[in-house]
Amino acid sequence: MYEQQSHYLLNSILDQLKPEIRKRDLRHFYTRLGANFYAIHSLFHTLYGQREDFREQLLRLVSVMATQYVARDPVLKSLDSVREQDHHWFLGQEWVGMALYLDGFAGDLKGLADKLPYLQELGVNMVHVMPILECPAGASDGGYAVSDFRNINARAGSLQDLESLAVEMRRRQMLLTLDVVVNHTSDQHAWAQSAREGDVSYQDYYYTFDNRDMPDLFEETMPEVFPENAPGNFTFDDTMNKWVMTVFNDYQWDLNYTNPAVFIEMVEIILFWANKGADIVRLDAVAFLWKKIGTTSQNEREAHLILQLFKDCCQVTAPGVLFIAEAIVAPVEIIKYFGEDAVIAKECEIAYNATLMALMWDAVATKNARLLNQGISSLPDKLDRATWLTYVRCHDDIGLCFDDADIHAVGYEPGAHRKFLVDYFTGAYDDSPARGQPFGRNQKTGDARISGSLASLVGLETALQLGDEAQVQSCIDQILLMHSLIMAFGGIPLLYYGDELGTLNNESYVKDAEKAKDSRWIHRPSYDWQRAELRHKRGSVEHRIFEGLKQMIAVRKSVEAMADFNNRELIDVGNPHLFVFTRTHPSILLDSVVVVANFNDKPEQFNLRDLRNRGRFELGELRDLVSGESPDLVEGQLVVPAHGFYWLVSA
Ligand code: GLC
Repeated sequence: MYEQQSHYLLNSILDQLKPEIRKRDLRHFYTRLGANFYAIHSLFHTLYGQREDFREQLLRLVSVMATQYVARDPVLKSLDSVREQDHHWFLGQEWVGMALYLDGFAGDLKGLADKLPYLQELGVNMVHVMPILECPAGASDGGYAVSDFRNINARAGSLQDLESLAVEMRRRQMLLTLDVVVNHTSDQHAWAQSAREGDVSYQDYYYTFDNRDMPDLFEETMPEVFPENAPGNFTFDDTMNKWVMTVFNDYQWDLNYTNPAVFIEMVEIILFWANKGADIVRLDAVAFLWKKIGTTSQNEREAHLILQLFKDCCQVTAPGVLFIAEAIVAPVEIIKYFGEDAVIAKECEIAYNATLMALMWDAVATKNARLLNQGISSLPDKLDRATWLTYVRCHDDIGLCFDDADIHAVGYEPGAHRKFLVDYFTGAYDDSPARGQPFGRNQKTGDARISGSLASLVGLETALQLGDEAQVQSCIDQILLMHSLIMAFGGIPLLYYGDELGTLNNESYVKDAEKAKDSRWIHRPSYDWQRAELRHKRGSVEHRIFEGLKQMIAVRKSVEAMADFNNRELIDVGNPHLFVFTRTHPSILLDSVVVVANFNDKPEQFNLRDLRNRGRFELGELRDLVSGESPDLVEGQLVVPAHGFYWLVSA
């Protein structure tokens, strides 16, 4: 019965599409629209069904999808069909990504095209180009305060440059990931400007209020994201003479998704970038999409419905395009951004594994893997048709977003333990070699996060200054250890630019007034390409890290068990310093890999019988896939060097 209502509505909408659209060859579009329309209609109705103009809005939505389909390049359409046929294509082990700031890495889009061979030399074949859309100079939040969603900032190049880059990347079989900042706009965006000038329909694009009544109610339960630089969640705009919701910086106005016009605009923008050649769209700050008084206004059910609707619409027009959910939230919440049901509630195919990221940092500081083991074993299973982005760090701060219950379970007190971690990485803790900076310290809650480059956080800066070669090697080992886990865990590893060369903190941001108060700039480097040449110089820090990663990447790509089919099993080997899991091959059991990571700065061992009892390693010798060597055995105990790792198979 419900479907019939949808069928009827769809037919009447199709009859109303403009003749110039109707006369095009829309067969594939119609097939997909037919298959998805019931879901689209139901979701749109749940969100906006109470409105009198519901039908009109739905017609607008379908028109946008059809128009963007018509505009989609035939090359991209055929890629869509190929990917539809091989719909597990992104779960394979061959993908390895890197996130980079364009200006710091390559200057501009043309420069990036020239640097693709460098990325390929390392083995990277997916590139997340951090936001390059127009932003006001200064108040840009590193590109996340967009003033024009359809234009590239002039320093980065032109739309034509981007399309050429996309073509070149396709030729090289590399994937292009672009951001769409769905949660907010810059206060300089045309919508915000119209709102300021008193246009009520654009004021409705945002959460605007005449007085503090509603803002005060929201504030009772909403946490602060940038408590130091942008306390509170609302900003008074003098010109508009109203309060506007600004969860992030005061110049980032939150979009109001209770208004279907906002949803439809954003669908059009996502499809616009899909049509420019993005293979993957990173949806920024998705946890914040729906605001509700009395809640934290994060991870609300409606935020998930909006993402489901984005997915359904996008897979009608551009089904080859994937979504990354940027939701750096609690472990039980993160998993929901894949959707809770692959048939009726699909959302983003990819999500950041912030849990693994934060837990690895815990293991580095504590030199043991107790919380890492505990936290990963309580991470719920994800949908089969979804995968993680596994990462050591990204352009943002490191938030300690693991569960208090897990911290308790391994015998620490959550508050004290989190404080220890922040102190450890910001160098406030005695004996810590880390050189991080605190970020987002909240005096009211005591929370803080951590900035700093990977190399400086593990102590490389300190070791180099001391000229302590043993320490330098230990830091390199830790950098490789953390990468060995993101490569082997299951998911698409996303390296962060500069880490492959051991790039240290860059303190120069403090001289720039626009950036000085945001310590995240300490780990957003500008490349010194001459230094990058040192990767060819045997024995240099750059060479040891670059070559180590390159080798790991090459091995990952050759081992099918590294593909993500939820084929991971944690193994408790009774040694708290070790993190051990198996990756089973989808069909050939004996090709399974055992991944072993030692977070201690001393060698650790465990009894091999613990593995053999699992039937995977009957007898005989073991071989480490990365080094190609057999590990040391002492009386049946397998020895793992300080900060060492193995990817073991039966020799
Ligand atoms: C995302 C981005 C971050 C930005 C924030 C607000 O979390 O990764 O850099 O500050 O959104 O746009």
